[in-house]
Amino acid sequence: MAIVPATQSNIHQAAQLIQSGEIVAFPTETVYGLGADAYNASAVAKIFAAKNRPTFNPLISHIADVDFLNDYVKIDERVTALAKKFWPGPLTMVLPRRQDNPALDLACAGLPTVSVRMPNHPVALALIKTANTPIVAPSANRSQSISPTTAEHVYNSLGNRVPMILDGGACRVGVESTIIDLTTPKIVLLRAGGIAMEDISDFLNEEVIISGGNPNLPSSPGQMLKHYAPKYETRINVTRPNDDEYMIGFGKIDGHINLSPSADLSEATANLFAYMHMAEEQTKYFKIAIAPIPMHGLGRAINDRIKRASYKD
Ligand code: TXA
Ligand code: MG
Repeated sequence: MAIVPATQSNIHQAAQLIQSGEIVAFPTETVYGLGADAYNASAVAKIFAAKNRPTFNPLISHIADVDFLNDYVKIDERVTALAKKFWPGPLTMVLPRRQDNPALDLACAGLPTVSVRMPNHPVALALIKTANTPIVAPSANRSQSISPTTAEHVYNSLGNRVPMILDGGACRVGVESTIIDLTTPKIVLLRAGGIAMEDISDFLNEEVIISGGNPNLPSSPGQMLKHYAPKYETRINVTRPNDDEYMIGFGKIDGHINLSPSADLSEATANLFAYMHMAEEQTKYFKIAIAPIPMHGLGRAINDRIKRASYKD
């Protein structure tokens, strides 16, 4: 079994695997990541292979120190201020890439931009520091399935395609990071995630525009509508489930399980993927229904993920 506890010596071993061009799964505060040395193209290629991920879909670099940025991105005062306020934490910034660092070509899918974040998790930070390199990491699941929030989820999705899965327990935030594009005059939200966009616009006193219009032509290549497809047909905004539906409740609208009986959006976010995994694993009902979730704060990320889950071709 590839799962090992995230002890200091196992983190050390994981860092050595990263340095020798291997891939390793590790916990972050959002979801588990599948990491490789950002500067090692053949290691990065292993990520795409293990996940069955199309290579046009770029990866996020994870750093443990803002000084890492100087090597590959152009930063300005706004970036520095956002980093100071929200890092370490679930904010990914898309920034103009320095053209003199071709080693990142595969990780960036050839784009002139690079996405970076500093995860707020002691195991992730220790791993990056020990490996002493930025670690690119998508969520540690097969492409187009639900992101993993426990080491077991990773193992169930990727099995022995990953030589080591560092187990750091369940992820505290539970959805992926918020991605904003800072390469355009106005900040664009590319993916709703673990930090509410209201917090970003309040902090900068600046409007954040929601990417889109056509959700099938996103500016973030990984944001296709059917990105998070559970195995059972899924219906959202449901107040009364049908007899054949496994109901995921929220607040007063109860179900077989309830994301947060007290209607707390942080709690609901943290439970979302684990409950969707549970809904997929149970075999009594062959359909899934999900209660309405308010569309503010972290609710935007939840609604985004469940909308994808309910998408039909
Ligand atoms: O919370 C997270 O962000 C997790 C943990 C492991 O850090 N990572 C994660 O990575 O969710 P992934 O690969 O599953 O999702 C990254 C998304 C993809 O939709 C990708 O297309 C987009 O970020 N992305 C990456 N680099 C980009 C860039 N330069 N421009 C636009 N979108 C980018
Ligand atoms: Mg993903």
